[in-house]
Amino acid sequence: MSPAASTASRFTPYAATEIAKGWDALYAFLLIASLISCILVIGGLIVFVIKYRRKVEGEKTPYISHSTTLEFLWSFIPFVIFMVVFVWGWKLFHDFRKMPENALEIAVEAQKWDWTFGYKSGRRVSGEFYVPINEPVKLVMTSKDVLHSFFVPAFRNKQDVVPGRYTTYWFQANALGNYQVFCAEYCGDKHSGMLAKVHVVTREQFDEWLSNDPYKGLSSVDIGQKVYAARCVACHQLTDAKGVGPGWKGMFGRSEKMADGSTITADENYIRESILNPNAHVVEGYPAGVMPTFAGQLNEQELMGIIDFIKTVK
Ligand code: CUA
Repeated sequence: MSPAASTASRFTPYAATEIAKGWDALYAFLLIASLISCILVIGGLIVFVIKYRRKVEGEKTPYISHSTTLEFLWSFIPFVIFMVVFVWGWKLFHDFRKMPENALEIAVEAQKWDWTFGYKSGRRVSGEFYVPINEPVKLVMTSKDVLHSFFVPAFRNKQDVVPGRYTTYWFQANALGNYQVFCAEYCGDKHSGMLAKVHVVTREQFDEWLSNDPYKGLSSVDIGQKVYAARCVACHQLTDAKGVGPGWKGMFGRSEKMADGSTITADENYIRESILNPNAHVVEGYPAGVMPTFAGQLNEQELMGIIDFIKTVK
């Protein structure tokens, strides 16, 4: 069954790892235990209210001191339930946090507002990444700006991604498919658009993907469009509408008024500078320091691709 087809009919999102199934089982146990307790307590309350209501005017309740047996039972039974939940949860958390040694390691870099994934082979991708099925994968994550959080509902993980340090997370997907990655920590205007996809594929497909040139057979404009979809779309629209950053429609060749009062023609050099050193010249009406630098993240082919793509947005 494909993840998409099964999600709608399920109580929780599709579970694509063993740990996810473990969390779901614990969650179901907690839910059922809570429901039973709720029925016992509220039901008992209602029964007692009716059964022991005052039937005769002026009737007094006899003085009751305590019942050792009852008090023991209502302390001991919950204690056993809580210990079951504690040990069960601890075991799951232990599995969840214990990094396997033979895992495929992927470096994850978060910045407002996208995700970049770097493989040991040197391959870097944004917006989506691939992993082989039934193999442990370890993510070593860091942020370039603010606190983000890496969240894949199908894996039931959620791990903060912190600037200035690494956090780790591992998973072993056991179902082929494409799963949604969310940012689960509010990080600014486009937090809700900080998305990515994780593709779980067979080992053969993964090896083929990893060794392929991602831009094989693509024109420079197509490369630019791909980069746009992965890196720029959160802030720059393809209309002339003002988003977090300026819309791209008709931008190339236009005279832009800068915040410092100067005027610059949006040519190749201006676009390149805006991508690599965004605060050098900020367009009037936009706050400085919002656009992150993409220096070291985009290669020459990708930079040229974006410039060629912008030229086509008219
Ligand atoms: Cu990154 Cu929210």
